[in-house]
Formats: sequence, structure tokens, C-alpha cells
Amino acid sequence: MTCGLAAAALANTNTDRAPAELERLVLQDCGSCHGLTLKGGLGRPITPDVMQHFDREDLRDIILDGIPGTAMPPWRQVMTESEAMWIADYLQGRER
Ligand code: HEC
Repeated sequence: MTCGLAAAALANTNTDRAPAELERLVLQDCGSCHGLTLKGGLGRPITPDVMQHFDREDLRDIILDGIPGTAMPPWRQVMTESEAMWIADYLQGRER
């Protein structure tokens, strides 16, 4: 059944990635704008001392939806909500 296969393929790309892979995504993809040590570049610093002041869910939503009108892009197309939540936790220093 082709449509079952397509659904499986889609589900597969949506499978939550392992923490090590998400960490690499943060350092490489987020780091390309926020700096390799996340201390800021084109984007602001997103180090734990700054991120602590954010609400966990707000942070997840910023990651998923980006910040309209700025260079901060939405990530909804390339990660799941739970991956975004993991990244929010990571940025707040809970996953280190
Ligand atoms: C193309 C460049 C770019 C990339 C890639 C990028 N960001 Fe951003 N990000 C920005 C910019 C620019 C801002 C500041 C927007 C503004 O002026 O409010 C920002 C803001 C943010 C903020 C809000 C910070 C604050 O103090 O208000 C968070 C959180 C954030 N980014 C997280 C991430 C994460 C996590 C990733 C990777 C999944 C990421 N960003 C990737 C450019 C980027």
C-alpha cells in the first residue's frame, strides 16, 4: 500500500532524534547565527544564564515559529515539538 509506505516514510523523518544529534543541531545550525558557543553573533546570546529567564513553553514556541520580522527562522518544518522542547531544556541548562 503506497500510502501506508508514504506515511511510514513521513513518520520516520518525524521520529525524535537522539540527544547527541539534537545537540549537534543546536551547535551547528543555531550556532551559525548565535555563535558556536551560543554567546551571540547575528542572533543574541542563547546561553543558559539568558535562557533561564524564559518560560519553557515560550522558548519552545520561539524555536518552532521563529521571530517574525527578524532573521530568527521557524524550525517547525525540520523538527518535532518534543525535539523543540528538548532544545528549550538544553538551552536552559537542564540537559547538559
Ligand atoms: C539565520 C540566523 C538564525 C538561526 C539559524 C537561528 N537563529 Fe535564533 N535568532 C536569530 C536572531 C537574529 C534573533 C534575534 C531576533 C530579535 O531581534 O528579536 C534570534 C533570537 C532567538 C531567540 C530569542 C532570544 C532572545 O533573547 O530574545 C532564541 C531563544 C533563539 N533565537 C533560539 C534559536 C535556536 C534554538 C536556533 C536553532 C534551532 C536558532 N535560534 C537559530 C537568528 C537565528
